[in-house]
Amino acid sequence: MTREKLRLGVNIDHVATVRNARGGAYPDPLRAARIAEAAGADGITAHLREDRRHISDADIDGLMATLSVPLNFEMAATPEMQAIALRHKPHAVCIVPEKREERTTEGGLEVAREENRLAHFIAPLREAGCRVSIFIAADKRQIEAAHRIGAEVIELHTGAYCDADAEGRIEHRDRELEALREMSAFAHSLGLEVHAGHGLTYDTVKPVAAFPEVRELNIGHFLIGEAIFRGLEPAISEMRRLMDEARDG
Ligand code: PXP
Repeated sequence: MTREKLRLGVNIDHVATVRNARGGAYPDPLRAARIAEAAGADGITAHLREDRRHISDADIDGLMATLSVPLNFEMAATPEMQAIALRHKPHAVCIVPEKREERTTEGGLEVAREENRLAHFIAPLREAGCRVSIFIAADKRQIEAAHRIGAEVIELHTGAYCDADAEGRIEHRDRELEALREMSAFAHSLGLEVHAGHGLTYDTVKPVAAFPEVRELNIGHFLIGEAIFRGLEPAISEMRRLMDEARDG
């Protein structure tokens, strides 16, 4: 298949994490979004969590008012978040599982067991013109369910692959990567657009970027951390370069 350009969505949640550590206004996630755009981000991703631990409602207002690239609004499947999304009508809405006590989004959404509720939940978002994406594990059952409920996009959770890589569990890493490869192709064969993300770094991005069915990567925590050492724009530009290299290779 032809290799279409791979989009990079930069997740700015953890700029807000640092800001909120002091409760003030700095660093400003909107400024980070502007720099990310200048560095070649094709979109900005932000997760408004129920507990507002990083991104705030005001951040979403600001992003919607000022971004010139699309906003990918990550949210849990709750009535509160649905109302916020319907008010803003962002370009994309990514439905993620959310547990209060977790440090980050630990697994994919359980779509298969909640098919009916989720089908009703996403219908008004689609009617409002949002592209609805479902964040799931590389699992055939979940992909089929996401397709049945009418999602246009799935985002595959790359966390297990990245964790195995970081911990040097090579066989496990390779198995996770193979599952991502197979499930990207399977989802694409159903007509779903395939995105991927979570935990990606300079070391782990290239094999995923090389999958021809993957159209977008969403990357946050590593880039914001790397920005401490080399600045946000160079950190993002390097990720962009690695993605393009993997795509062209
Ligand atoms: N994609 C989704 C759906 C996510 O929930 C997250 C984390 O918020 C990411 C991508 C980005 O993950 P990371 O911050 O580990 O790069």
